[in-house]
Amino acid sequence: MAALIPYHDRDGWIWYDGEMVPWRDAQLHVLSHGLHYGSSVFEGERAYGGKVFKLREHSQRLIDSGRILGFELPYSVEQLDEATNTTIAKNGLSDCYVRPVAWRGSEMMGVAAQASKIHVAIAVWEWGAYYSDLRLTRAIYDRPAPNTAPVHAKAAGLYMICTICKHAAEAKGFGDALMLDYRGYVAETTGANIFLGIGGKLHTPVADCILNGITRRTVIDLAKARGIEVVERHIMPAELETAQEIFVTGTAAEITPVRAIDALTYQVGPITKQLLDDFHAATRGVQKVAA
Ligand SMILES: Cc1ncc(COP(=O)(O)O)c(C=O)c1O
Repeated sequence: MAALIPYHDRDGWIWYDGEMVPWRDAQLHVLSHGLHYGSSVFEGERAYGGKVFKLREHSQRLIDSGRILGFELPYSVEQLDEATNTTIAKNGLSDCYVRPVAWRGSEMMGVAAQASKIHVAIAVWEWGAYYSDLRLTRAIYDRPAPNTAPVHAKAAGLYMICTICKHAAEAKGFGDALMLDYRGYVAETTGANIFLGIGGKLHTPVADCILNGITRRTVIDLAKARGIEVVERHIMPAELETAQEIFVTGTAAEITPVRAIDALTYQVGPITKQLLDDFHAATRGVQKVAA
């Protein structure tokens, strides 16, 4: 395995509370509320040829996630868009991953933190394919019910179970975990939405307790534009056996074919191939996609 370059020890610039700061100076205090109580939200974005795909939707989701957690980001969607573009340009990058994050600061310690300052940072780096030859195994935790967690926010706290599940999957030799939801329906992986090709149609879980991914919505639009019927519904795990092709979608994952789920194996089918082409064109601005 190539040597890890720690993320805190890199060259470059990070946008931090409205200022551009040298990468290694982008630090926070150990008594930050976001660290102790999970009061943190984030985004994952990708730039292609210097342009972030669906930037406005990502900036808006960051603001919305903060509101779901009860805080208001001190920047507008326009200011976040501009800060993102400035950060990419300052780092001299073109194709890169973008990580905005917002969190409660260290003014108050304790569960209540109404007076804490809301901090925002944006970092960018080159990041290749998120998955390769993806094989999934059933996760050890389920996605929580909407009345037990803020499931529609991209909130850092929700990823606690994702990291545990992903580590458990990797320990068994798999690439990621397939999570079910609190009712036992197929939900998503720890960082991507899932689609099943069954009999020429595309089936995907209803986004009622999972992240309604921006890539998920893009892929639904692309499929419909090709005349492929998309069925959003509750999917039982036993139905994984009836799928001819399966892929996952996400900003980091883009569209990644699934090669296996435990003992079940899949080929890269015609729907996946078509959508891989269309997504490639859409992200590079070759073809107009519905917003
Ligand atoms: C749990 C989870 N589901 C789905 C997605 C896909 O979302 P998007 O396509 O907006 O990146 C992500 C990635 O952000 C994720 O972390």
